[in-house]
Amino acid sequence: MIKVVAMSGSLRKGSYNTALLRTAAELMPAGSELEIISIDDFPLYNGDVEATGMPAAVPPVKEKFAKADGIIISTPEYNNGIPGVLKNAIDWISRPASDIPKVFVGKPIAIMGATPGGFGTVHAQTAWLPILRVLKMRPCYANSLLISQAHTRFDEHGKLTDNEIRTSLVKYLEDFVAFIKD
Ligand code: FNR
Repeated sequence: MIKVVAMSGSLRKGSYNTALLRTAAELMPAGSELEIISIDDFPLYNGDVEATGMPAAVPPVKEKFAKADGIIISTPEYNNGIPGVLKNAIDWISRPASDIPKVFVGKPIAIMGATPGGFGTVHAQTAWLPILRVLKMRPCYANSLLISQAHTRFDEHGKLTDNEIRTSLVKYLEDFVAFIKD
């Protein structure tokens, strides 16, 4: 069983990005599963706090991240950049730096994103790449999943109603699982 862990870059209950991950979890290819992990309880990174010990929310997420066969992040785009809450979580998970090899290096990762705007989080997805590079992750470039006009693709319950995007998502997940197995 291929185990993929997913994180949303939005803490909002009605988040399109979290809704996208919930849909992805339902559509994973046979022989794989996706677990969405919450970063809601992560405090803001503070070296003084770290010096007194890891906040309780961090180690369980870090362990799941380390054990996963692959990672998916679904990223909102804020001011053409990445969402601070998810960068903050990655920063905590990357501590201490001596753990980076076992947690991040060589780990397959796929990025997707949804926005009510017109450009489908393309800037945010690109802006993640230097972070993945420094952590020596293995980004999947098989294809892109850029969801624009998200308010027209999901209903008020967060159900993906756009069948073309559903088909693209299925293909995206198949490609990512194949990439993990490569
Ligand atoms: C946004 N939003 C936004 N959208 C976009 O496509 N490009 C952008 O640069 C920005 N910038 C931006 C800045 C700030 C501060 C906020 C709060 C919002 C809109 C954003 O895509 C929208 O709020 C999404 O709904 C956020 O994702 P979730 O919460 O639905 O997952």
